[in-house]
Amino acid sequence: MSLPPSSRFRFTDDLAICRILNGMWQVSGAHGAIEPVRAVDEMFVYHAAGFTTWDLADHYGPAEDFIGDFRRVSAARHGAERLTEIQAFTKWVPHPGRMTRRIVEEAIGVSLRRMGVERLDLLQFHWWDYSDESYLEALDHLAELQHDGKIRHLGLTNFDTERLRVIAEHGVPIVSNQVQYSLVDRRPEAGMAAFCGKHGMTLLAYGTLLGGLLSEKYLGRPDPLRAELNTASLQKYKRMIDAWGGWALFQQLLAVLKQIADRYGVSIANVGVRYILDRPAVAGVIVGARLGVAQHIADNARVFGFDLDSADLAAIEPVLAKSRDLMTLIGDCGDEYR
Ligand SMILES: NC(=O)c1ccc[n+]([C@@H]2O[C@H](COP(=O)([O-])OP(=O)(O)OC[C@H]3O[C@@H](n4cnc5c(N)ncnc54)[C@H](OP(=O)(O)O)[C@@H]3O)[C@@H](O)[C@H]2O)c1
Repeated sequence: MSLPPSSRFRFTDDLAICRILNGMWQVSGAHGAIEPVRAVDEMFVYHAAGFTTWDLADHYGPAEDFIGDFRRVSAARHGAERLTEIQAFTKWVPHPGRMTRRIVEEAIGVSLRRMGVERLDLLQFHWWDYSDESYLEALDHLAELQHDGKIRHLGLTNFDTERLRVIAEHGVPIVSNQVQYSLVDRRPEAGMAAFCGKHGMTLLAYGTLLGGLLSEKYLGRPDPLRAELNTASLQKYKRMIDAWGGWALFQQLLAVLKQIADRYGVSIANVGVRYILDRPAVAGVIVGARLGVAQHIADNARVFGFDLDSADLAAIEPVLAKSRDLMTLIGDCGDEYR
């Protein structure tokens, strides 16, 4: 299997990515036990299928080490020159406090060593508390490290539109912001997507499949008990669905998506991903991968084989119109973490 050219996105001048990124929070341990050798073997299957772009973080358990292992074995099998075919986007999620050059440099050094790279493709920065403006200090140090060749590009995760503006005015060049974005959570459309469009930034979406809830598996099912939701991801997005409008409305959404999916011979998940990929400013959708435990490669590849038309969008809209406004309820993207 190989993916069509439409699966690729020119993320920056020097980096093309797969528009479905493989999410590695799912190897952190909060989504079931992961066997490291099997997991790294499985990474080759994703890569060979065209899913060459990985999203990870310093705090996703062994994720950065898996990238390191994957690269080492890849280099041995196919030659070091083909390592450029892998894109690995990590994050730095520091504990609050002062951000000295030393603290920032040490943290980036750990990621470089674990991932076995001389330069991070993309470092996505998270910050817990906007009342502590040291995030600007941290970004200045990151920009220096970028200048020194340790980081190729700087991104953010879970920053709101107001802070994107502060950072843009501060003058640190940012290429992307990673945020929750799905049919259920469309907060990026309130202002962030337009801001990104104007400032040459893109969005990387997560939570698009709601941890797997946006699928045939949950169509027609009664409201699941908490004990049935056996990953951190399922629990997190079930709470989001409850805030958005509840399980009955979610069933209406699944039913409409199923009709659309049947029209194209694809899955509900495919429609959910296609919808977000087509939204302004979106570079890619991150789909969590429980490496060595569960796999949806063939299904997710179908996202690149169909397009949604205006009749499909018109069928979805009345269901979404019945939902609560998460901007009012939670705040802008990332406010759920603060
Ligand atoms: N920046 C942040 O704060 C943040 C937060 C959360 C996530 N993320 C990133 O986003 C990634 C995705 O995580 P997420 O929590 O948002 O999960 P998600 O992608 O919404 O859901 C992942 C789950 O969806 C199911 N799935 C995947 N493809 C499917 C298909 N074609 N049909 C049916 N089910 C399918 C799988 O479930 P099974 O394994 O059960 O089959 C998979 O484990 C993370 O790994 C991470 O990289 C970032």
